[in-house]
Amino acid sequence: MKPYQLLIIAIVLFAINSEIAVGETSPVGIGKPNLGEEHFRRYCASCHGLAGKGDGPAAGALKAKAPDLTQLATRRGGKFDDAEIASFIDGRAEVSAHGTREMPVWGEVFASAAGGGSIGDEFSRGKVQVLLEYLKSIQK
Ligand code: HEC
Repeated sequence: MKPYQLLIIAIVLFAINSEIAVGETSPVGIGKPNLGEEHFRRYCASCHGLAGKGDGPAAGALKAKAPDLTQLATRRGGKFDDAEIASFIDGRAEVSAHGTREMPVWGEVFASAAGGGSIGDEFSRGKVQVLLEYLKSIQK
């Protein structure tokens, strides 16, 4: 793991911990329509950019290009595949299948921030779901 990746993960863990501390983690943001956007800004914008265009401040430090996330559906012939995208964000299946990737393994990051185990998994699924809905809403 590269030093900048550790830094990004440290920032993310700090963000998650302060979120747990103020008790903002209640189920999938019902009544909080901007939760997905908030999560995106907090966890994803450093690489993918505030608008998801792939131009975040950390993007230049990556070997791979941070993809434009407003074009997920377009790049897949107009289809937004929830299961595929959720699994990619989570990343735990992906890593064992392909070995390398530059994007953090969010499933692991979120789950361990919530203490692991079944609660960690639940927390992680909630986060990924909220992010997925947000990504769907920004498709161009
Ligand atoms: C450290 C930089 C970084 C951060 C932070 C990051 N990503 Fe990524 N992301 C990448 C890179 C680089 C790729 C291209 C695949 C790879 O090399 O890992 C990618 C790929 C993706 C893809 C697949 C795109 C495609 O066309 O298949 C999705 C979806 C995605 N990211 C969503 C997210 C979400 C949601 C977050 C926040 C939870 C996030 N990313 C945070 C760097 C990042």
